[in-house]
Amino acid sequence: MQRSKTKSYFLKTFGCQMNVYDSERMTEALARDGYSETDDVAHADLVILNTCHIREKAAEKVYSDLGRLRDMKDARRRNGKETVIAVAGCVAQAEGREITTRQPAVDLVIGPQSYHRLPELIARTENTRERIVETEFPGDEKFSSLKAPRRVSSPSAFLTVQEGCDKFCTFCVVPYTRGAEFSRSLAKIETEARELVAAGAKELVLLGQNVNAYHGEGPAGRSIGLAELIRRLADIDGVERIRYTTSHPRDMDDDLIAAHADIPQLMPFLHLPVQSGSDRMLAAMNRKHNASEYIDLIARIRSARPDIALSSDFIVGFPGETDADAEDTLSLIRAVGFAQAFSFKYSPRPGTPAATLDAQVPEDVKSERLQRLQAVLEEQQTDFNARSLGGVVPVLFERRGRQPGEFVGRTPYLQLVHAAAEGDLVGRTANVAVTETRRVSLSGVIAAA
Ligand code: 5AD
Ligand code: SF4
Repeated sequence: MQRSKTKSYFLKTFGCQMNVYDSERMTEALARDGYSETDDVAHADLVILNTCHIREKAAEKVYSDLGRLRDMKDARRRNGKETVIAVAGCVAQAEGREITTRQPAVDLVIGPQSYHRLPELIARTENTRERIVETEFPGDEKFSSLKAPRRVSSPSAFLTVQEGCDKFCTFCVVPYTRGAEFSRSLAKIETEARELVAAGAKELVLLGQNVNAYHGEGPAGRSIGLAELIRRLADIDGVERIRYTTSHPRDMDDDLIAAHADIPQLMPFLHLPVQSGSDRMLAAMNRKHNASEYIDLIARIRSARPDIALSSDFIVGFPGETDADAEDTLSLIRAVGFAQAFSFKYSPRPGTPAATLDAQVPEDVKSERLQRLQAVLEEQQTDFNARSLGGVVPVLFERRGRQPGEFVGRTPYLQLVHAAAEGDLVGRTANVAVTETRRVSLSGVIAAA
């Protein structure tokens, strides 16, 4: 399928790192198909929104963008130019044909499991002006047929190793939008890792909706877990740092905990969502663990890797949550001590069990609880960063900063660091003496080697 070399596309990514990864892969496929990327949406022949359905706000943003895109499409048509509008990602998967009903300017709705068919479906809608909705869950791997070489836009590269989730937390759309757990084989992941390193990656961020449930095909057809996968990837020349996200507490096995002690490239940082510190809420959320099990797990992880930095996700205002439950969450936060965290007001999602529960918490109560929770988390983050003051940290520099001569990178604990340097630091790891710390970042000067 050869197309005109002059076509351009605009791609906007919402939501999680998995969507960022998927967008990179779509970008590679489109480049192979002769498209070039533009950051001016008004000049794009193809507009793709890679969407997120996790909370209502994220999904609604898509429809307001689509309204603007419809006007733009009409304006371009008056100038004799056609525009294909595609909705990809989890809103596409969850809402399917409803999207084209609500916004008829949309030409293509494509779910995350169908991206390997993107070029073909774009061509079809261009040729036939037919509106296409493609949200099947095919069994084979979505990107293996693309054969487009991996490119990297940053020394820290995402690599999807697992997709989908079988946990069915009662608030969450992921098991419906991304489907059942699926792990890629070691062979495919190693090949992609080598391509990424050859293209300049120094850090691999292994992605999965439930990444520590990874159980892919390993050597001789044997199934391997995430710890063994990380060991194999650490053996690849040029892999300096490895991270993984997002994990479930129930899948944090001894082998993975040991990996944090044994594998030097595995960074001392763990994002391990707990959602709530109330046993009553954890049960209602179907989290499959209680607060003390989480705290004990953290203790075991810290005994393997004492300096590990912890991150988590929290939901406030889950149906039935009382002040006492919210207080339990604050107690858990104080007991654990987080280096950073994400926190959200509960958002009822259509089709999930919690959405129809009685005792939905009023918006103002959610807001008030969120504020209190974030105040504690922000204080912990500020304190965590403050502990770096006066020390020297190895920073992998990922990009240039806004100031001339400034570079931005990350410490092993995922802290953002700004430092000035002569020459080009992007892709290099340098020691930085930390001279200033803030809640969300550090500043410093390059220390002598
Ligand atoms: N409402 C609010 N937050 C949610 N999350 C997932 N579903 C919802 C929802 N319905 C949060 C969880 C999850 C993170 C990715 O998003 O904290 O870990
Ligand atoms: Fe959603 Fe994570 Fe629960 Fe899976 S484990 S259902 S992705 S919150």
